[in-house]
Amino acid sequence: MEQSQLTDLLGQMTLDEKIGQLLQITGDFYSDKAEERTGPMTQLGLDEDDLANAGTVLGVTGAEECRKIQTAYMKRNRLHIPTLFMGDVIHGFRTIFPIPLGLASSWDESAAETMARVSAHEASVSGLFVTFSPMVDLVRDARWGRVMESTGEDPYLNGKLAAAMVHGYQGDDLLADTTRVAACVKHFAAYGAAVAGRDYNTVDMSERQLRDMYLPGYKTAIDAGAKLVMTSFNTVDGVPASGNRHLFRDILRREWGFDGVVISDFGAVKEMISHGVAADERDAAKLAIKAGVDIEMMTVCYLRHLKDLIVSGEVPEQVLDESVMRILELKNDLGLFENPLRGADAEAERTVVMSKQHRDAARRVAEESMVLLKNDDATLPLDASRKIALLGPAAKSTDLLGAWSWKGQEDDVAALDVSLREAGIQVSTVDGDFDYLQPSDQAVEEAVRVAKDADVVVLALGEPSYMSGEASSRSDIRLPQAQLDLFKAVAAVNDRIIVTLFNGRPLDLSDIQSAKAIVEAWFPGTEGGRALADVLTGAVNPSAKLTMSFPVSVGQVPIYYNVDNTGRPYENDPEGKYVSKYLDVSNYAAYPFGFGLSYSKFEYGEVKVEDHEFDADNPLKVSVELRNVSEREGTEIVQCYVHDLVGEVVRPIKQLKGYERVTLAAGESRTVTFTITEEDVRYVHADYELDSDPGDFDVMVGPNSRDLSKAIRVHLF
Ligand code: GLC
Repeated sequence: MEQSQLTDLLGQMTLDEKIGQLLQITGDFYSDKAEERTGPMTQLGLDEDDLANAGTVLGVTGAEECRKIQTAYMKRNRLHIPTLFMGDVIHGFRTIFPIPLGLASSWDESAAETMARVSAHEASVSGLFVTFSPMVDLVRDARWGRVMESTGEDPYLNGKLAAAMVHGYQGDDLLADTTRVAACVKHFAAYGAAVAGRDYNTVDMSERQLRDMYLPGYKTAIDAGAKLVMTSFNTVDGVPASGNRHLFRDILRREWGFDGVVISDFGAVKEMISHGVAADERDAAKLAIKAGVDIEMMTVCYLRHLKDLIVSGEVPEQVLDESVMRILELKNDLGLFENPLRGADAEAERTVVMSKQHRDAARRVAEESMVLLKNDDATLPLDASRKIALLGPAAKSTDLLGAWSWKGQEDDVAALDVSLREAGIQVSTVDGDFDYLQPSDQAVEEAVRVAKDADVVVLALGEPSYMSGEASSRSDIRLPQAQLDLFKAVAAVNDRIIVTLFNGRPLDLSDIQSAKAIVEAWFPGTEGGRALADVLTGAVNPSAKLTMSFPVSVGQVPIYYNVDNTGRPYENDPEGKYVSKYLDVSNYAAYPFGFGLSYSKFEYGEVKVEDHEFDADNPLKVSVELRNVSEREGTEIVQCYVHDLVGEVVRPIKQLKGYERVTLAAGESRTVTFTITEEDVRYVHADYELDSDPGDFDVMVGPNSRDLSKAIRVHLF
């Protein structure tokens, strides 16, 4: 439709029809079985007219199901406006890729884009038009269950990966390419900073910190063209995001120029009553519409009270019209007025979803996402000629998809034991299954018996997927006690243990440090068992590096690499008493941001800068020669960090400003060069202006955020 036609359409809509467009309800309201519909309708107090006017639908998939609903809906809707199907396709639709915290460990934007592209294809043929992804919440607290859904603790890397996902979801021409879906950046904003890592808890920080550290990732994704933004459940400076005019009207829309749709998170508008900033649903409706929330997900504050607010003049109808127009424009950008089902195609659903091509892509991304944390005595790759035991609760588990895998099916997953056998590795194991949490003396005894007789033990441990994701925070981030007991019993009879981990957060791994090797496999998705087998057998050389710090203990949390120096840095006086430190644990992560090993060995030459001075017209060129001094081709993620030595406000002791995945053959060398511009070193000043300061900087390069080269001092003019 032309814009003028949209304006005409808006002009024909009654107040009720306009308000109806702002409501999102789940698919059960459209069930053709009255007994399935009646309950939800009664609960929300909706009648058939409300259903005929509700603007969008949450969580329905299936080409035929969507066709049925859309056809009936457009018949009942007086102006035949199509509805819009949205859902949570977070890291795969039916072909599930590694959880985002795993995928991020690849540091590979093309992997992120591939995940999104495949997800969009499978989702679109299955009737979805919008996905609630990418989640770009910066995270520093492993107690929070939703770190699994994030890409980690660095705003620069988060933005790069999120922008790649937006492009993968939306492509270059969303209207014409019906195998794509619109992307929704979430959760705006700073949901990952919940106090104490407890989900839905208060978020409280300075606006400067918010703007400097937490907002940039979202902005990069929005600048990449994301069509929607979702509000977060938390407060931002005391005001719940869904009613936060400053966050949405001032920052998102006025400063950033975002003119897409803002959708609330599930029930978040009405939750402002619980927050204590809305007296009732009418108040909540007023706060949300004035903040610019266009779609209210699964509560009816708008439906019940917006008409009265407009008739009374408390809310100008123009404000409502703007929201309705944004929703109509989204539907138009998706071509729904001409093609109300877009890419929904039952035939294509049968061939595209879970195709071999998609599964192969998921396997490749999973292989790139697994982090080799330890490999003493070159215990890995496995030697097929040795006697190998495979033990532990995850050895035969298909719980590899993660907490946000919605349409993913565990039946599609090949467990690690099956995958190793497929790879030609004969393993001895126990007949029974281990439980992730429940201790069993008998299971341990059997494990010890098998371990005693083996040359090496692969001990597959981890969290059940329900221990991470939404509403799944943990105060203790160690492996479950039953698994620690199992580890101890096996270690008593065999000291050659390889631990593999399926988990959704950084863990305190202090208790398993005697293991010879540790592989962090995350929740690796549909092909994750096979991908892990590929890494263990050496068919794949691990290259992944962490994007979120692993603490030594939960007492260190929140822990992250890009810290401020403080007035009494430990490093200045490590033996001193009056310095910033703990009495009982180090300040440092067990495994820092950017850390990961390889079966290859890389050496870094001297870091050089072309010129020690740079300015807005002459960027800094930083280079290092990287050598693969091993017998095996491998990929190294070379990282470049910058420290702004003096700022108007404190600056982090280091910030990632460049990275490159470099694949080198055995013995090969290559010079890797980073370009650091004046724009790269801008930061949010006390007056919230984003600007750089002339002055000195240190530049460092290395394999992770800890083991960096000697700093080179440079000057910005
Ligand atoms: C959930 C999540 C959000 C998701 C939405 C719709 O509560 O917070 O990430 O997109 O509801 O399912």
